[in-house]
Amino acid sequence: MGQLDNKIALVTGASTGIGLAVARRFAAEGATVYLTGRREAELAAAVEQVGGRGVGVRSDVSRLDDLDRLYAEIAERSGRLDIVVANAGVGDFGPLGEITEEEYDRTTDINLKGTVFTVQKALPLLPAGASVIVLSSSAALRGAPGLGVYAATKAAIRSLARTWAAELADRGIRVNALTPGPVATPGADELRAALPQDDGATPAARPAPPTPLGRVGRPEEVAATALYLAGDQSTFTTGAELLVDGGVTQI
Ligand SMILES: NC(=O)c1ccc[n+]([C@@H]2O[C@H](COP(=O)([O-])OP(=O)(O)OC[C@H]3O[C@@H](n4cnc5c(N)ncnc54)[C@H](OP(=O)(O)O)[C@@H]3O)[C@@H](O)[C@H]2O)c1
Repeated sequence: MGQLDNKIALVTGASTGIGLAVARRFAAEGATVYLTGRREAELAAAVEQVGGRGVGVRSDVSRLDDLDRLYAEIAERSGRLDIVVANAGVGDFGPLGEITEEEYDRTTDINLKGTVFTVQKALPLLPAGASVIVLSSSAALRGAPGLGVYAATKAAIRSLARTWAAELADRGIRVNALTPGPVATPGADELRAALPQDDGATPAARPAPPTPLGRVGRPEEVAATALYLAGDQSTFTTGAELLVDGGVTQI
């Protein structure tokens, strides 16, 4: 018996990284999982990895017509949605003074607008007992040079979890923020590569370990926490933020 038997779940941005790990874990626990992403081939490969309980719907969270199409398909095939993981997100490196309008629009459109409308348009399908999980970031809790716009969208997402938890409590729907620290994924590896590098020439200049635990996280470790928030082990938890960050924001 799985922890999510008979549940219907949506994970946006599930073709790689954290979203894929969440989709795989949810399916392994018995859920039917809808996966989204913009790139066809990557999405098809992800659905293949998830197995028979995975359904791919190619869509862009920043496009409202794509979201309408996604939810129409879920409504037709499954009739309801028990779990929403608004995971799709991007980060651009842009210190103050170098932020371009294009990067600003891309980051806010996908991370903030995408999260708002992913959750809003899911509402008609959510039954009592549904769990909504939104992805914040440890970058929202620390001053990380070059990540201002990204961090601001993630701080907004954490705030939305509180507001939506209040607004949806009387429907019996829980909303929580899941906040990873540095986790090894294609997106994060690309972003970290864009950050200014210490040359490590002297011992004093060697880069510090990425977290107090001495390593970056694995997507599967974030997926385990998503499973906790999605399922029946967390039925008294709403409006909360769960950190999966190797202690980086606390120690
Ligand atoms: N990894 C970390 O260190 C870390 C830390 C804190 C927070 N997070 C957050 O965790 C989430 C997942 O990050 P990740 O590191 O796993 O990223 P990733 O490896 O880059 O994966 C992002 C996924 O989202 C999809 N995506 C991007 N834009 C999309 C859009 N407009 N519509 C639909 N899908 C979209 C991508 O596929 P397509 O490009 O094909 O659409 C991909 O499947 C993000 O919200 C990120 O901000 C990550």
